[in-house]
Amino acid sequence: MTYFTDLLSKDRTSDAAALDTLISRMPKAELHLHIEGSLEPEMMFAKAKKHDISLPYANVDALRAAYDFDNLQQFLDLYYAGADVLRDQDDFYDLTWAYLQRAKADGVVHAEIFFDPQTHTARGLDLEPVVEGIVQALHDGEAELGITWRLIPNFLRHLTEQDAIDTLAELEPHFSHFHGFGLDSSEVGHPPSKFQRVFAEVRSRGYPVVAHAGEEGPPAYIVEALDLLHVARIDHGIRAIEDAGLTSRLARAQMPLTVCPLSNVKLCAVPSLAAHPLKKLMDAGCLVTINSDDPAYFGGYVGENYRATTRALNLSADDLKKLAAMSIRASWLHDVQKARHLAAIDAL
Ligand code: ADE
Ligand code: ZN
Repeated sequence: MTYFTDLLSKDRTSDAAALDTLISRMPKAELHLHIEGSLEPEMMFAKAKKHDISLPYANVDALRAAYDFDNLQQFLDLYYAGADVLRDQDDFYDLTWAYLQRAKADGVVHAEIFFDPQTHTARGLDLEPVVEGIVQALHDGEAELGITWRLIPNFLRHLTEQDAIDTLAELEPHFSHFHGFGLDSSEVGHPPSKFQRVFAEVRSRGYPVVAHAGEEGPPAYIVEALDLLHVARIDHGIRAIEDAGLTSRLARAQMPLTVCPLSNVKLCAVPSLAAHPLKKLMDAGCLVTINSDDPAYFGGYVGENYRATTRALNLSADDLKKLAAMSIRASWLHDVQKARHLAAIDAL
């Protein structure tokens, strides 16, 4: 029996506090984080002031009050508008650095980060300052905070496949910084099958593919992501729970699901955290990880996602250690680094 399971079984009154301590101490990987979604209102206002942009909100509180969404599209409209304050390399550096500091406080040892190139090229930015700002902060984060990283450009699925193909060509000078490519934005009506050619090209260049699927879209989109895009991970994937055959296929394949509980509640993909299928997916043998998605918009970074989910679903210390271990296993870290983090989790 390890320190935490021993402590928890002896004194149930301190369970909640001990679980919170365990959550913050567990080395964990965050595998589903849109860097543009970590833009806090305070930084949005500071950057708007710097670039002389006027925001349609009186202040930070008024902006935060607007973060009340009925669905994914309502959020995306605000998120794309918010990203317009990011204009130069320093902005992308500051954004990424702020995220890394929050991640460090939550015990994140490894972060695999998405960014949306088309959100920035569509408003006339070059990709150079975007990529360089993010990558410099990631290098500094590794040197100063010890957080290793991978970087994953995502294609916007509400745009055409040709736009994604053109964007892939524009990204080419920066390929050495990337570790895979993904698919995000408005899901329903934009199935993975729409992007078969661009992801075949990505795979032919030796990069793994990830895709948002089964967030709002049906289980069939998860099947398409598996069979047509040949993904290495599914982002969200929670609607797999509606299809027992698919759930057991995901479990058999140990296909990682990067689940984002607070996001799912905020975007009404689930009615409440208590109704979230995360534990059911775990119990079915799926490789489930906990992540924050767009933490500035959804009310919590990865630590808060673990804490709130633990309370709502009554997760145990063993469940938590299993989740942290799954985040490491599902990452694109090298085996030696994985083994080191897994041993540290085991020892807690
Ligand atoms: N882009 C940023 N956050 C997203 C989400 N939760 N789903 C799809 N696209 C996104
Ligand atoms: Zn996402």
